[in-house]
Amino acid sequence: MSFTDLHSHILPGLDDGASDEAESLAMARAALGGGTTVMVATPHWDLEERSAPWDLIAPLVAEFRRKLELEGLGLELLPGAEVRLNSGLYRLTGDEDALKKLTLAGNGRYILVDLPLMDFPVGAEETLFRIQLRGCTPILAHPERNRRLADDPVLLRDLVDRGVELQVNSGSLLGTYGRAARRQAAALLKEGLARLMASDAHRPAERGPDLSGAWEKARDLLGTGAADVLLRENPRAVLAGADLSALPIRGTSRRRAWRR
Ligand SMILES: [Fe+2]
Repeated sequence: MSFTDLHSHILPGLDDGASDEAESLAMARAALGGGTTVMVATPHWDLEERSAPWDLIAPLVAEFRRKLELEGLGLELLPGAEVRLNSGLYRLTGDEDALKKLTLAGNGRYILVDLPLMDFPVGAEETLFRIQLRGCTPILAHPERNRRLADDPVLLRDLVDRGVELQVNSGSLLGTYGRAARRQAAALLKEGLARLMASDAHRPAERGPDLSGAWEKARDLLGTGAADVLLRENPRAVLAGADLSALPIRGTSRRRAWRR
């Protein structure tokens, strides 16, 4: 069973990811080489600076899909966005239809949101709550890289308890972002708090889309079943708009035990 990558910056020239089409194609080859067959393109989107993204992103994804076909690359690419958790997103929660257009693959269920690296802005919890009131589930991208959340495990656990999903970066587990992020990523996984992993790929190699090394690391850390849930089963559930599974760590869910 192949990997599904929910978080990538593969579209050319749109953000700090792939700079041109050649780099995008190199990223697609690297993803396929690592066993990924489905990828969501999630360019950074700051609603304080740009309007809702689908008018622009969907045609770019369609165009790049044609390129992938021409190159004979069997990577299925879907549209999405990584939306900055700020007042722009807060305002958008007042418009359910527009909000649902931001969901991964446009299926109306999961929204990938990110924080600044150092901060947890005032109003972020309220914004997450309002997203949920609209029937969507926020997925917080790479919480292991956020300094404030690292210093405040109670806040992080509270978010999870209230239904926010956490997505750890594959590179974090492998040490790409330093020792603190690696330790935090491993802790979030071992405690069963994070139920998703994705590449957050920006380049073909360094910060790349090859998920095979992270799958092996997760297998060594948590077992084959949990590695498969993180990189195969739960990402597919996200795209199907279905509920996520707990990580099968030592035969039980620590997340569930913790919730009791
Ligand atoms: Fe990202």
